[in-house]
Amino acid sequence: MRQEAPTFETQLKRNAHAIETLLGRLLGLSIEPDEIGRPENLLGAMRHGVLNGGKRLRPFLVIECASLLGGSFDAALRVGAALECVHCYSLVHDDLPAMDDDDIRRGQPTVHKAFDEATAILAGDSLLTFAFDIIASPETPLADAQKTALVLALARAAGHGGMAGGQALDLAAEKSTPDEAGIVTLQAMKTGALLRFACEAGAIVAGAGAIDRQRLRSFGEKIGLAFQLADDLLDLTADAETMGKATGKDAARGKGTLVALHGQAWAESRLEQLVAEAEALLEPYGERSSILAETARFIANRRN
Ligand code: IPE
Ligand code: IPE
Ligand code: MG
Ligand code: MG
Ligand code: MG
Repeated sequence: MRQEAPTFETQLKRNAHAIETLLGRLLGLSIEPDEIGRPENLLGAMRHGVLNGGKRLRPFLVIECASLLGGSFDAALRVGAALECVHCYSLVHDDLPAMDDDDIRRGQPTVHKAFDEATAILAGDSLLTFAFDIIASPETPLADAQKTALVLALARAAGHGGMAGGQALDLAAEKSTPDEAGIVTLQAMKTGALLRFACEAGAIVAGAGAIDRQRLRSFGEKIGLAFQLADDLLDLTADAETMGKATGKDAARGKGTLVALHGQAWAESRLEQLVAEAEALLEPYGERSSILAETARFIANRRN
């Protein structure tokens, strides 16, 4: 009997559960070779920043992109866990008083509220560093050349030329008025870079050739733009309880967003356009990529 393909929701839940189980184990008290100790308070803050819900969309993309091209689930899961550590670090720091100054994340007190500011900064530092540990670890079943490619791509996506650089531009944009091109660049950096990495990482895990790698990278770029556009729209239209974080803050802080520049109706139609462009990139894969196409739609239409 032919097995029914799992629905997007089932698959998202299943992968989130696998990621959370792995992250829970990796962020346990037992130390790894060459580690000297794991301070309990710091580890508690790291766990608070990571094991607190979240859609786990970035690891999902790594796993589904790897699966599309025949990559190992176990390797993709570990790379997804590494990426989720970088994402969670970015959230812990994004919420700090010196940045967006937020008290609630994923429906719970932010790390600096539940612990303190210094601990939140160090938890973020530790999560970023740990991501590279997870990729390079002998437990990650990939060839050294694949690990090097992943480390390089993740470093470029997360650092001053990617996410952290985008965060710097985002804060600067509170005081200036960037034009459309400026906003697109800052969003491609602060949010798009990690989502692009998620998709490209799946191709690297699968040992894919340049064409597939480039195609998934372009898909990641499209959904990266859509993701932040949807986030900015939700900041305007959704309530804090549904979102698990404060809303209505972008306008209050004078954030440079496309929603602020062009309005809600423009943003909604731009989202549709981005989804269509993302889906078109998947055409060569036919039916096998239907779950990724659904992911693009989910990103644009999500309610939290
Ligand atoms: C929130 O990301 C931060 C942005 C890049 C806009 P998510 O919406 O993926 O947050 P979680 O991981 O599900 O909490
Ligand atoms: C966050 O953008 C981008 C990151 C790199 C964390 P936002 O500041 O809009 O994210 P939220 O709305 O706080 O989740
Ligand atoms: Mg921010
Ligand atoms: Mg924020
Ligand atoms: Mg936001």
